[in-house]
Amino acid sequence: MSILVAGATGTVGQHVTELLLQRGISVRALTRNPERAKGRLPEGVKIAAGDLMKPETLDEALQGIEAMFLITSSDEPDADLNTDPQVIALAKAAGVKRVVVLVGYEEGPVEEALRASGMQWTLIKPAEFMANVLADWRQTIREEGFVREFYGQALSARIHEGDIAAVASEALLEDGHHEQSYSLTGPEALTRREAVLAIAAAIGKDIAFIELTEDEAKQQWRDQGYDEASVEFFVQMAKNPPEAGYTVLPTVEQVLGRPARSLAEWAAEHKQAFLT
Ligand SMILES: NC(=O)c1ccc[n+]([C@@H]2O[C@H](COP(=O)([O-])OP(=O)(O)OC[C@H]3O[C@@H](n4cnc5c(N)ncnc54)[C@H](OP(=O)(O)O)[C@@H]3O)[C@@H](O)[C@H]2O)c1
Repeated sequence: MSILVAGATGTVGQHVTELLLQRGISVRALTRNPERAKGRLPEGVKIAAGDLMKPETLDEALQGIEAMFLITSSDEPDADLNTDPQVIALAKAAGVKRVVVLVGYEEGPVEEALRASGMQWTLIKPAEFMANVLADWRQTIREEGFVREFYGQALSARIHEGDIAAVASEALLEDGHHEQSYSLTGPEALTRREAVLAIAAAIGKDIAFIELTEDEAKQQWRDQGYDEASVEFFVQMAKNPPEAGYTVLPTVEQVLGRPARSLAEWAAEHKQAFLT
């Protein structure tokens, strides 16, 4: 069986790729940059050049593929992959039978396309990734022993990206997940302060939580290069997070038969990233 993994060089896709390889599946990784991808993908993965924003580049990548893992937004700013309905149509025409799609909280055109496609499909809707902690907090934890954050009481049921990938792999390989929309969270909703405490305990290092005012937080994000729309989004996500972002759900355990991993477990796995 051959599975095409979009985002295979990214946070979730790397885990999907590893889990499929462990189960003896032939993995084809879709990437915009095959040269760069070579160094990031495990042995045995076949690399297929293609760009989801340019569906005409995908013909070769889709040949001989039974199932596909798809993402719906790019890591480029404001580049939602609204070409996904075209990608679904191309996949169907190429004979792909099953699609598992990583989506955001809100339904979009890809969901409609899947429902109309007659293919087997599963939607994966994760809460905030635990891995975001690396981008947001790692540097100051490592270099200065603190986290500077806005709105310390903001709640999030962060999920381990390996758990997102495990659910996606299950849906790619096993029956019984067709026409399911899986909202996924970690096992607990923690405030930002609590999350920092959990990381500190897991890595064995004191980490101070410095609470920023709204103006200080906005300036910090601007200094990091974010545009005003992103800055406003971050403020709203802190002050009025969507309920789905902090409401703990049992879905991971229901699908995998084991509990979702905690932030403490995630931090212990990534201990070295915060210490060296
Ligand atoms: N971070 C969160 O808290 C969160 C929460 C919910 C949902 N999500 C969504 O989860 C998805 C996956 O995120 P991630 O963190 O695993 O990815 P990531 O680490 O940001 O990496 C992006 C991946 O997408 C691929 N990609 C981007 N644009 C592409 C394009 N036009 N054509 C083909 N491939 C493209 C990249 O491949 P190449 O660079 O090799 O081409 C890379 O593998 C994203 O859509 C994100 O919006 C994130």
